[in-house]
Amino acid sequence: MKLKFNSDGKFKILLFGDIHEHYDYETNPRFKDMNKLMNAALDEYKPDLCVLLGDNCNTNHIEDDPEAFEKMLRAVVEPMTSRKIPVAAILGNHEHDHGHEDEVIEIYNRIEGLIIRNDAPEGVTGNANFKELVYSSDGEKPVFCLWFIDSNNCFEDRSVSHYDYVHPDQIEWFEKECGKLKEINGGKPMPSFVFQHTPVPEEYELLRKAKLWELPVAVRGYNTKKDTFYVGKKGTKDYVGEGPCSPDVNSGQFASWKKVGGILGAFFGHDHLNDFSGFYDGVFMAQHKTAGFRAYTDGCKSCVRLVTIDENNPEVFEQELRRFKQFGLKSESLGPVMRTISDRQSFWLHVLGYSSLAAGGITAAALLAKYLIKKHGG
Ligand SMILES: [Fe+2]
Ligand SMILES: [Fe+2]
Repeated sequence: MKLKFNSDGKFKILLFGDIHEHYDYETNPRFKDMNKLMNAALDEYKPDLCVLLGDNCNTNHIEDDPEAFEKMLRAVVEPMTSRKIPVAAILGNHEHDHGHEDEVIEIYNRIEGLIIRNDAPEGVTGNANFKELVYSSDGEKPVFCLWFIDSNNCFEDRSVSHYDYVHPDQIEWFEKECGKLKEINGGKPMPSFVFQHTPVPEEYELLRKAKLWELPVAVRGYNTKKDTFYVGKKGTKDYVGEGPCSPDVNSGQFASWKKVGGILGAFFGHDHLNDFSGFYDGVFMAQHKTAGFRAYTDGCKSCVRLVTIDENNPEVFEQELRRFKQFGLKSESLGPVMRTISDRQSFWLHVLGYSSLAAGGITAAALLAKYLIKKHGG
């Protein structure tokens, strides 16, 4: 499938994070809510390509019933396939969970319009590392590169890192391919995006340590960063809902992007509560909350992101985030409170919950201290 800019010089990419669809989708209102979000976003934006950022569909029973998996996947992507919009998919950690990556990729490829494959040579880590070029509107020359990188599953030694990372052999392959693109791009790095499930550790560079009075709105760092609480840095936009679950080992992927040049932006899934974004060292990095309602989420803020690139100015792109309720949609799966309140109210409800917990903790500590002092004194 050849992707190319439209006659107006634009190419629009619509991103969906962690849908986590289940086999009971036909009777579950959470599927209906996700489907409503997808249809509303497709009607509004009319994208040229959609991207599923991993953890797309539950692969639990794929070996016993591949047809059921295919049926579910077809239902998930139906809003795109019925509109003849291509869909690139990447693997999330949960697509790796059961060791059936090859079957998963094979079933994705049974559906017309879905793009997922492995371009890297045999032996390179990961099951689906590939790239797609976006050609000029006349179809003559590649202008932009979209990288789809497999960030693998969990790390073998959880005391070192909970999540795996993009391995040096994947980075080596990526750099070689970037060298080839540079050659065909007149000696200049080709402008590119990276789409990947698990974020790079540099995502924490968009956050800073929270001050004491900011703790109710702060998030706790993940795994080896669990002793620190974070808030978004100045310039970081949108919602920081949890400590980013990036690997604890830095394999040098971000450094490699800087080395090869041309990487303008990186778009990640995996953290179901984060949709923040910002620039670090000249690279735009964006986190995507779940676009679904199946996995852990506060529900209210399930969102999509549109990224628009321009053939005539490929170094500059536009992007915007839009949440479920901003499309004017009404949820059928959320409870009566969550479906009624605004996103801002849901944020403050979260803060209130946090503060109540903290106040409860302080009161309990004070009572315990009083009891111990009294006991000691008696
Ligand atoms: Fe997920
Ligand atoms: Fe994940």
